[in-house]
Amino acid sequence: MDEQYDESTYGDRVAEIYDEWHPAAPPEMIAALKDLAGAGPALELGIGTGRVALPLAAQGLDVHGIDASEAMVAKLRAKPGGGSIPVTAGNFVEVGAGGDYSLIFVAFNTFFALGSQEEQVRCFANVAKRLRPGGLFLIEAFVPDLTRFTRGQIVQAVQVGVDEVKLEASRHDPLTQRTYSQHVLITEGGVKLYPVQLRYAWPAEIDLMARLAGMRLRERWGDRRRTPFTAASINHISIYELP
Ligand SMILES: C[S@@+](CC[C@H](N)C(=O)[O-])C[C@H]1O[C@@H](n2cnc3c(N)ncnc32)[C@H](O)[C@@H]1O
Repeated sequence: MDEQYDESTYGDRVAEIYDEWHPAAPPEMIAALKDLAGAGPALELGIGTGRVALPLAAQGLDVHGIDASEAMVAKLRAKPGGGSIPVTAGNFVEVGAGGDYSLIFVAFNTFFALGSQEEQVRCFANVAKRLRPGGLFLIEAFVPDLTRFTRGQIVQAVQVGVDEVKLEASRHDPLTQRTYSQHVLITEGGVKLYPVQLRYAWPAEIDLMARLAGMRLRERWGDRRRTPFTAASINHISIYELP
């Protein structure tokens, strides 16, 4: 991480447009999480504006969350039902929420928000402490694709409209497996910067983190519709089980 970027930076900057940029979680994802959680309770790491947690809670599941960004949680609180979800403020690396969970999940690449291998390994170990025996940890993440980068960088036009342009500028450090990105929104009113810094890991490395935490891979899907995971998959949903 550079010293101006910490666990709350992404959320605090992006909260104002997050729900506009990201569509609602698909019903298949909500149904799968509900199914995996059984009687609950469930805990979401990086709950954000409640895009996943709110529809899940609406199905009758007891859902808790952790988030470091006050601005994101304020958006959650402002939505119907958002006031009744217990949210712990802080860094989810510690998994510092009280509870004896049947399911802990981290959606939408948010596991990679932990900026080092050490933090990701520590998070797994803490997840294992918060799960009841037989409990599950679900990670939804992209499969790294280093061909995106040319000489360690990429600049691309994500969206070009009549009144606005959205660009992505990223640099890649292969030694730390970190990417440093800005989403740049240019309008007649000015320029807005939405930074995001990630530490990616391949599925095999995440499996090893699970093993270190005493967990094992139970299932891996290629997407939220439970499509089989193959060499062509660009995302994965991996479900780890505590014995
Ligand atoms: C990409 S958003 C995902 C929000 C929600 N899970 C969803 O799918 O819409 C990532 C969220 O994780 C939070 N976050 C990122 N790193 C964090 C950390 N280390 N500790 C706690 N929250 C973190 C951000 O504030 C943000 O709300």
